[in-house]
Amino acid sequence: MSESRYQQGMARPEIDIGTRGAERKPVAERTTLVTGGAGFIGGNLVRALLDTGRRVVVLDVRDYIPEARFTIGDDVDAVPLELASIGDQARVLDVFRVHRPDEVVHAGMILDPAYLATNRSTAFQVNVGGVINLVEAMIAFGVPRIVNFSSIGVLPRVLYEPIDGNHPILLADAGPGTDFYGSTKVAAEVMLFAYKQALGLDFRTIRPSAVYGLGMNQYVGPIKAMVENAVRGLPAHFEFGGAHPRPYTHAQDIASLVVAMLDAPDDADRIFYGSTGGPMATTSEVAQIVRELVPGADVEIGEELSEAEKPVVALRAPLSVENARSQLGWEPTYLSLREGIAQYVEHYRAFIAAGG
Ligand SMILES: NC(=O)c1ccc[n+]([C@@H]2O[C@H](COP(=O)([O-])OP(=O)(O)OC[C@H]3O[C@@H](n4cnc5c(N)ncnc54)[C@H](O)[C@@H]3O)[C@@H](O)[C@H]2O)c1
Repeated sequence: MSESRYQQGMARPEIDIGTRGAERKPVAERTTLVTGGAGFIGGNLVRALLDTGRRVVVLDVRDYIPEARFTIGDDVDAVPLELASIGDQARVLDVFRVHRPDEVVHAGMILDPAYLATNRSTAFQVNVGGVINLVEAMIAFGVPRIVNFSSIGVLPRVLYEPIDGNHPILLADAGPGTDFYGSTKVAAEVMLFAYKQALGLDFRTIRPSAVYGLGMNQYVGPIKAMVENAVRGLPAHFEFGGAHPRPYTHAQDIASLVVAMLDAPDDADRIFYGSTGGPMATTSEVAQIVRELVPGADVEIGEELSEAEKPVVALRAPLSVENARSQLGWEPTYLSLREGIAQYVEHYRAFIAAGG
């Protein structure tokens, strides 16, 4: 290979997407596009973003879950909701053209591991292609910054504790411990680094862990059924899983971290764990907290792990939030799991009282 061809092959094209070093609007003048905003974490994000004075636009394939509607409150009907798929480039461009967002929070994707494993082309088109569609729309419309939702599901197993942003995600003998879920998250994460390196696109990735609170989904184990059944006066009995430890994180702490990440200084890290930085709690400990907080709660769980959860337990460890503390000035509100579950109990009671 000649010297010139070698140089040509290694050279980076000069591509200016026009957002490097651009001044950002004051927060109160910004429009934030939230994908997946009709879901659990999305509802908390919309509420937190509205509280900063932003205008918010939601892009989702469905209407709000009732809990998200309740969490957002009276403002919900003033938030434009675009029924659209991030997997559809034309539709994503339409939404950008109509609403001209100033920043993007990307939480919308397919989470169900069984669905992802059986619908692999859709898994790729939505969970990986969706990020590319969003980023290309950002480039087309000069949108400078995105916060991208990844997950602790990108981790293969624990190599050291606490896990921080430098912990490996690909090992010589293993990839992400959550197959198509974690692997599509990894693919999206690495593509964002490519856009950053080659084009200067500004992104931050959050990797949340075991997020709980009103509207939570079933992938975080029995905590949802324990809290909600206890409040409703119903039993919640589980044969397996008591010994499963998780770094539980309240949804409001995820939302406040995302708000901090949207205003991260340019030289801040790219990857932040969505956690409290505190110790893990087992599901048996969660059961005990629920029994103490809800008088008469009939909550029981066997200690042994089920076969299905054994591989996931291998990637559980305390997570470092030191970069969020030192670089973003962020602190979790619910460092205490007991206080976080107490908030969930009260919020669920209020939701039921309002007809939920
Ligand atoms: N809940 C957790 O413990 C947890 C942990 C780690 C990471 N996360 C991540 O947080 C994000 C939000 O998850 P959640 O827990 O709120 O779940 P969720 O299911 O409530 O929210 C996901 C939202 O994405 C929407 N969506 C699905 N396909 C879409 C598409 N093609 N286009 C646009 N929107 C689409 C869904 O309708 C839903 O409202 C996800 O990216 C998830 O991977 C969640």
